[in-house]
Amino acid sequence: MNSNVRPDTMERITTKELAEKFIAEQVAEVRAQVGDKKVLLALSGGVDSSVVAALLIKAIGKQLVCVHVNHGLMRKGESEQVIEVFGKELDANLIYIDATDRFLDLLKDVAEPEKKRKIIGGEFIKVFDEEAAKLEGIDFLAQGTIYPDILESDGVKAHHNVGGLPEDMEMELVEPVKLLYKDEVRVVGSALGLPDEMVYRQPFPGPGLGVRCLGAITRDRLHALREADAILREEFDNCGLAGKVWQYFIAVPDFKSVGVRNDKRYEGWPAIIRAVNTTDAMTATIEEIPYEVLHKITNRITAEVEGINRVLLDLTPKPVGTIEWE
Ligand code: XMP
Repeated sequence: MNSNVRPDTMERITTKELAEKFIAEQVAEVRAQVGDKKVLLALSGGVDSSVVAALLIKAIGKQLVCVHVNHGLMRKGESEQVIEVFGKELDANLIYIDATDRFLDLLKDVAEPEKKRKIIGGEFIKVFDEEAAKLEGIDFLAQGTIYPDILESDGVKAHHNVGGLPEDMEMELVEPVKLLYKDEVRVVGSALGLPDEMVYRQPFPGPGLGVRCLGAITRDRLHALREADAILREEFDNCGLAGKVWQYFIAVPDFKSVGVRNDKRYEGWPAIIRAVNTTDAMTATIEEIPYEVLHKITNRITAEVEGINRVLLDLTPKPVGTIEWE
């Protein structure tokens, strides 16, 4: 698939049968492109890179080398899921790098959002490059580019995605889903047998929890954010909102307020709930979460998460608030 233009005649992949036909075509095409050479893939665990990984494992098995860099800003359980699904179930050639300390050390005392993003993006490339340099005989680089990425690279949106790799890497690209829209990538992922949690997961920014742990990141506040976010996700799963709301998460600002716990003064950070719906992320509306769900989430977060003593709800649509807080 060399062209970057989707032909008008290309059928929209909406069913398992159409997905299987696409998979068979791509498997043949990738085998023809790659031969017996090795392919490297940065596997974040997001929908696009996961689907590409599963497709390439089917096509070339152990010739695919997946590198999963844990930047320490993943949601709870995400890296573990990558290891479980790809390392164990699909028996992929998976290199797992826990670079948490590197990222958090660099981010120490850095409060400015764009600076944080640059550090995270830049360090990601460094870690990936270092790993690629250790491997020998890799001729191809696989990427989870999808069609909207190609359409957007005309400069409309400036989000530098973590996972964006250096252009001077001298490897030929393998981009099997580059002409697909997101919904089609999901259908293909399901047909490849990936778990729903992975295929239908909400978008997660490349810089991860780094842009939700507001201001200068500290390990204790990042930990509180990750735990509170996991509770929010669990409760959204329980009440059926998970399949309905486009994006939902917790942000934790870097100030404390006074509270009381076990009859003692208890200073803690607030956890801010944000739950939005959108079609293109350019504008967004607020999901009206039932109060009983909000009470449950509030009770659980304040009881279970060390360091959080209040739960707040963000009611701001985009515009004027962006989806992320930073
Ligand atoms: P905003 O905050 O601009 O976000 O309303 C729109 C969508 O983009 C995601 N987002 C990012 N994704 N790298 C990414 O890969 C980033 O730096 C980044 N910043 C925001 C955000 O989660 C939302 O889905």
